[in-house]
Amino acid sequence: MSDDSSSPASKGQSLWGGRFERKPAELMQAINVSIGFDKRLWAEDLAGSRAHAAMLAKQGIITPADEAAIQDGLNRIETEIAGGTFPFRDEYEDIHLNVEARLTELIGAAAGRLHTARSRNDQVALDFRLWTRAACDHAIGRIRALQRALLAKAEAHADALMPGFTHLQPAQPVTFGHHLMAYVEMFGRDAGRFADARARMNENPLGAAALAGSPFPIDRHATSAALGFDRPTANSLDSVSDRDFALEALAAATICATHLSRLAEEIVIWVTPQFGFIKLSDAFTTGSSIMPQKRNPDAAELTRAKTGRVLASLTNLIVVMKGLPLAYSKDMQEDKVPTFEAFDALDLALSAMAGMVADMEPDTARMAAAAGSGFSTATDLADWLVRELDMPFRGAHHVTGRAVKRAEELGLGLADLPLSELKAIEPGITEGVYQVLTPAASAASRTSYGGTAPIRVREQISIWKERLA
Ligand code: ARG
Repeated sequence: MSDDSSSPASKGQSLWGGRFERKPAELMQAINVSIGFDKRLWAEDLAGSRAHAAMLAKQGIITPADEAAIQDGLNRIETEIAGGTFPFRDEYEDIHLNVEARLTELIGAAAGRLHTARSRNDQVALDFRLWTRAACDHAIGRIRALQRALLAKAEAHADALMPGFTHLQPAQPVTFGHHLMAYVEMFGRDAGRFADARARMNENPLGAAALAGSPFPIDRHATSAALGFDRPTANSLDSVSDRDFALEALAAATICATHLSRLAEEIVIWVTPQFGFIKLSDAFTTGSSIMPQKRNPDAAELTRAKTGRVLASLTNLIVVMKGLPLAYSKDMQEDKVPTFEAFDALDLALSAMAGMVADMEPDTARMAAAAGSGFSTATDLADWLVRELDMPFRGAHHVTGRAVKRAEELGLGLADLPLSELKAIEPGITEGVYQVLTPAASAASRTSYGGTAPIRVREQISIWKERLA
């Protein structure tokens, strides 16, 4: 063990300043410093350093005594950071150098051995990967909670009728349960995308060192196992320059945020007095400072808007990465802010949406009434003509169109058209047709796999209940 007189931190110098004669310009520090945001990686940085120090000792690269001192110092730093007493300092640029400088203050010379066979390039690649991996796991947990909320509502209203829309025009009756289960499917794919991204990113870049690997007899498999990675990354240049793990996570986040935005948009529409399909409690609405009658779905609107941030973060990082030569460039320091921002926004949006879904109460009578409006069972009439009168579908479509026109003229719904009116259009029509013209019959008849019939919806609900159990 040497004494610590050679340590730059002990002399108040920057940790990389050996060949420099002057301190950086203030502006240089202002543009270079990242501790303000990358302090968020502190737990990952300590975990990486612990694994690295243990491996160095096991390989005989540092002594057991140095390793013990380093582990002890890292533990003390953890206590300081968790307790809010750690001195984060701009002059040490980033989380890595802040930890190393503090370690030097706490344990002296041994601290200078921790960085053997390591560079900040593989260190930051490791820390950020660990953070992004945890963020994916966290997002999956939040998505599951939202799916459970949707599932509970879907089960409670598996046969509540509502209009199904295309072009936001009444199309065919569906059930509210079926509609909510559509989102369970979407969010299921979102969770799958995070899981796929996680599986691909789960390789350990530590040991790539600056860019070319290390001449020390390091064991990258050991640090991989210690940090929960499947294996070490296979190319040292790629290891320090790859950020597509973050891009992929941000792409998954963007698609998920888009789904949240669509659900939010539907909630905004459904709570309008004109639709009146659902009610949100006071917990998820706000009033207006001037219009006392208002009850605004702000949480849904903000969820819809957060999509902008998430997509912007993906765009931001893609543009940062585009055109960077191998291997590490300082541009990549700008990877963290957008990624943190996107996952913070997504976390909030997923949680708020789970809360709103659990909170919302459908007005089932109003939805059922709307389900019958807009001649929503016209397709059922056409299908009946095909089935009972053996008409070609095109002909049946034409006959149905005339029935709709007549009903419109008389100001009636299809089910209220007298048989004489229907017979005037198509003499073969009989009393039996009325059985298919109600919204309930229409929905119940759609028993094809994945269809809106309540028995099919309940099947899907029980499949998902098992999956989410
Ligand atoms: N703060 C830096 C970042 O986030 C750490 C890596 C610095 N590496 C270097 N060669 N200057 O990217």
